[in-house]
Amino acid sequence: MSAFRDDLLAGKTAFIAGGTSGINLGIAKRFAELGAKVAVAGRNPDKAAKAAEEIGRGARGYSCDVRDYAATRTVMEQVVEAFGRLDIVISGAAGNFLAPALGMSANAFRTVVDIDLDGTFNVFRGCYDLLQKPGASLIAITAPQAVNPMMLQIHACAAKAGINQVIRVLAMEWGPDGVRVNGISPGPIAGTEGMARLSPDEEASARSKGRIALRRWGEIGEVAESAVFLCSESAAYVTGTILDCDGGSQLGDAGGQGLG
Ligand code: HXC
Repeated sequence: MSAFRDDLLAGKTAFIAGGTSGINLGIAKRFAELGAKVAVAGRNPDKAAKAAEEIGRGARGYSCDVRDYAATRTVMEQVVEAFGRLDIVISGAAGNFLAPALGMSANAFRTVVDIDLDGTFNVFRGCYDLLQKPGASLIAITAPQAVNPMMLQIHACAAKAGINQVIRVLAMEWGPDGVRVNGISPGPIAGTEGMARLSPDEEASARSKGRIALRRWGEIGEVAESAVFLCSESAAYVTGTILDCDGGSQLGDAGGQGLG
């Protein structure tokens, strides 16, 4: 159930890095439903084209690796060429796998930091002079692991912690120009590649739900609603914040202690 009116994002253009699947694709779809012109980018050109088709409403799919600054910048220039403006940018591309630090090569660590953290810098740094100012809204997708350490996730924890600071620093540097920079920290969200990797079986899923205050995983659509809020006029005075869309999972055991 959404509280937003159907034309909330009419006249806006949104670029969503990593928008070819999962949570980011869900955000892209929702933005398009609310009237935004939407461009998604991912590494795989076929997947990008398929995502654009799935989003419909004139959405466009682009191919770039956010680790490559020049390629990412070029794609964002193409988006502005195609749609005439850029109001909303989501940095959501991420890579992840479970491995202990001792089972991870230096390249493995660097790869995830590169995609998540350097990628967020590249997307935001690269879009700045293309943005509609004042009024632009940038959102980075971070994770609870930015704050709460998790074993087998040293790369993602480090990368997401870095992203949280990128959000805050850019909010300070770009606020004077009317550019808001925020983050969304999704907790466990059903139907995502992330949860398939982190909670691969029934037992792990049940354990995970037992630790969440709302006792369930979230829906992709619920994260999309948070993104809509942050991009909307309703969040005009919100910048440098990280919105936890996580059912209260960061509260720890949520008082459950296995009792409920
Ligand atoms: C140990 C591993 C490994 C594993 C890869 N590597 N998988 N090491 N255990 N399971 C190592 C490789 O051996 C290599 O190191 C290095 O990582 C780079 O691997 P490549 O396959 O060459 O890299 P690349 O093709 O760029 O692929 C990147 C990737 C891959 C991150 C490794 O998984 C990927 O493309 N992921 C994208 C999709 C994804 O992960 N989605 C989930 C996002 S969910 P060597 O030394 O051998 O060269 C998410 C939620 C976050 O992010 C929530 C928690 C924070």
